[in-house]
Amino acid sequence: MNSLPRPVVKPKIKTAVDIKHMRVAGRLGSEVLDYITPFVKPGATTGELDKLCHDYMVDVQHTIPAPLNYAPPGYRPYPKSVCTSINHQVCHGIPGDRLLKNGDILNIDVTVIKDGYHGDTSRMFIVGEGSIQAKRLCDITFECMWLGIHAVKPGGHLGDIGHVIQRHAEKNGFSVVREFCGHGIGQRFHEDPQVLHYGRPGTLELLVPGMIFTVEPMINAGRREIREMNDGWTIVTKDHSLSAQWEHTVLVTDDGFEVLTVSRGTPPDPAAA
Ligand code: MF3
Ligand code: CO
Ligand code: CO
Repeated sequence: MNSLPRPVVKPKIKTAVDIKHMRVAGRLGSEVLDYITPFVKPGATTGELDKLCHDYMVDVQHTIPAPLNYAPPGYRPYPKSVCTSINHQVCHGIPGDRLLKNGDILNIDVTVIKDGYHGDTSRMFIVGEGSIQAKRLCDITFECMWLGIHAVKPGGHLGDIGHVIQRHAEKNGFSVVREFCGHGIGQRFHEDPQVLHYGRPGTLELLVPGMIFTVEPMINAGRREIREMNDGWTIVTKDHSLSAQWEHTVLVTDDGFEVLTVSRGTPPDPAAA
């Protein structure tokens, strides 16, 4: 995400203690996605998936689901524990009675709070058999996220991240959502900087070791324009084209990056294969 309003205080460079906590929160967030994966199948409802994730976070992990009752200025409290965005839903879909059906594409976005620190990550799921076009959108979006992550290094700039994401998406005939972006994260869910998923190399803020932010491109198969639904949260593509998103929480290290939202089931970095 996000264009959600955020505090005006400058986020600090994270300390060694902050980073330790963020590794734990990140792993736990990712483990919720590992846990829910076998339940994502035709006939399940998004509400059931939400309840399973909620109970796993609260009862097993002893984490707090950050979305539940989250209410940035101008927003009504978010009513569920994860976001589930299906097909033409871009982000912030609210879990409910909708049945998953063969061929749907689904983003599940999990944010846990552990000992006051946030871990924010999302993955795409294809329900049953997906179309070639749906698979291609999910794959290219995954590559976009990883290209963005590989642009994270001290001496680089935020604009480098947006640039590589936009170039890869557009080269493949897709478009980048502009209204929502990655964000600084730590003891707050959303803080500066904004991490745009489009832009020019060498522009915007300098990357410095100890910064932690998310990379979470939202890529549309059609046009980039979006619309907000009447529930006050769900974002959809204006042209009803499919939309995909992947998200990791990333630390700037002395020589590059460290992905914090990793667990056994994390799909591997394509560059490491
Ligand atoms: N997890 C989303 C993000 O990546 C934010 C969701 S806000 C909510 O930033 F309230 F909808 F949960
Ligand atoms: Co996020
Ligand atoms: Co998220």
